Amino acid sequence: MTVQEPVDNPLRVGMRSQRTPEPNTLVIFGATGDLTQRKLIPALYNLALEGLLPGGFSVVGFARRSKTNELFRSEMKSAADQHSRTKPLQASVWDGFASNLHYHQSEFTDPEGFAALANALAKIESKTGACNRLYYLATPPSYYAEIAGRLSEAGLTRNDTAWTRIIVEKPFGRDLASAAELNRTLNSAFDEDQVYRIDHYLGKETVQNILVFRFANGIFEPIWNRRYIDHVQITVAESIGVEGRGPYYERAGVIRDIVQNHAMQLLSLAAMEPPATFEPNAVRDEKVKVLRAVRPVALEDADRFTVRGQYGPGAISGRKVPGYREEERVAADSTTETYLALKLFIDNWRWAGVPFYIRSGKRLPKPVTEIAIVFRQPPLSLFPATGGSSIEPNVLSMTIQPDEGISLKFGSKVPGPQAALRIRPVEMDFSYGTSFGFAAADAYERLLLEAMLGDSTLFARRDEVEAAWAFITPIIEGWANSEPRRFPDYEAGTWGPDAADEFMSSDGRKWRRL
Ligand code: BG6
Repeated sequence: MTVQEPVDNPLRVGMRSQRTPEPNTLVIFGATGDLTQRKLIPALYNLALEGLLPGGFSVVGFARRSKTNELFRSEMKSAADQHSRTKPLQASVWDGFASNLHYHQSEFTDPEGFAALANALAKIESKTGACNRLYYLATPPSYYAEIAGRLSEAGLTRNDTAWTRIIVEKPFGRDLASAAELNRTLNSAFDEDQVYRIDHYLGKETVQNILVFRFANGIFEPIWNRRYIDHVQITVAESIGVEGRGPYYERAGVIRDIVQNHAMQLLSLAAMEPPATFEPNAVRDEKVKVLRAVRPVALEDADRFTVRGQYGPGAISGRKVPGYREEERVAADSTTETYLALKLFIDNWRWAGVPFYIRSGKRLPKPVTEIAIVFRQPPLSLFPATGGSSIEPNVLSMTIQPDEGISLKFGSKVPGPQAALRIRPVEMDFSYGTSFGFAAADAYERLLLEAMLGDSTLFARRDEVEAAWAFITPIIEGWANSEPRRFPDYEAGTWGPDAADEFMSSDGRKWRRL
């Protein structure tokens, strides 16, 4: 494909607007945690480096441990050193950024700590002149409701002359009831348009390109429906294990960790109708409609529409790795699923009868996230099957990561005499790397910036999260009523349990070999 001009600043070019946010203060709750160090601070530093942060921007790290501003700054510097997308850190940029980094020690439950936060903010704001506030809940989820309540009590959730917003990290509830409860609590402290529920997949460049690909091109949308599409496969494969997050993962499993949020987001973008405009609510209205049209799975059918698995010991890229049950702080008889294959239907005019297959797992052979649209075969085959295999269907695959791109598979005649006509699948490829000199900005950079700009398109709305849970919850409840699985049932470094292949073959289909 044609090589375009290289793009050296994907955020600046990729953002819908090139506006700089208004001056503001970001308060990170859980500032000594993993997310702050691995994602938030490195993302903020890179925004500073790109000149995308406003003047008068400050960060207040709110956490329970006692420490000085100096110690906080030096810890954050090590975190940025280690995790920044761009390396090495540029000293002048870091120093400028760090001079506006403050630490605030308090329990999340202590009203006095929040009153003191109000004073600390007033002090910073009197210097910067910026009264806009963005809160980031990067704590364990059990504190979300408490913090929202304390902010409200301290009069910190609304301001007549400036904006106040709150970003909430996943996991957003454990099931429909707890998500709805959390939404009620958040919405009693903040209006819905102040709440930004983050799903970092929505910040990925390639995920946003799904909408551009579908709606900025005339040739795909007419065939994007049940008349031409046989089925859709969404894969979120990871080769990593649980990375020391045993206690969290034990309660989550892949269904809560990936499928309810990231995979359902990919599904809604791939399947939604064109929005009336590209405004946040117009886009999210269409996503919600798709999620609401997903056919519910009855409790007793949970095992018919899903295959669960758990990895045992194995090898990834030649390196031996332990089984899930041997991971740190995981029960030796754990029944948590680390793999899930799922079939669903979207009962609307566009998709009636088209199965969507989702699979996700840890410790699969390689990391790859893609959406593959598998088209129907031509109505009549003029060419006999050759070489013992039938002609393969056309597949349009959108690779979200790691080799970002889009490719279309079609059959081509293998050069040779007509009498021995042979057809082989070939691919037409678009790769971000080749076309744009693609250097993906981290999803958190984009999402932090969008929240500061007040654009909620890439954040999940209350009804969206609840609609995804409404589909997922009965599956989890159905599993609870069924026989425990014989785990482990796949070797680390393989593509999941055999039952997942049988699940597909019993529908006359097969998983894509990635
Ligand atoms: C997180 C999950 O939300 O997404 C992790 O909690 C998972 O378990 C991660 O590894 C995957 O994100 P990415 O961006 O690496 O695909």
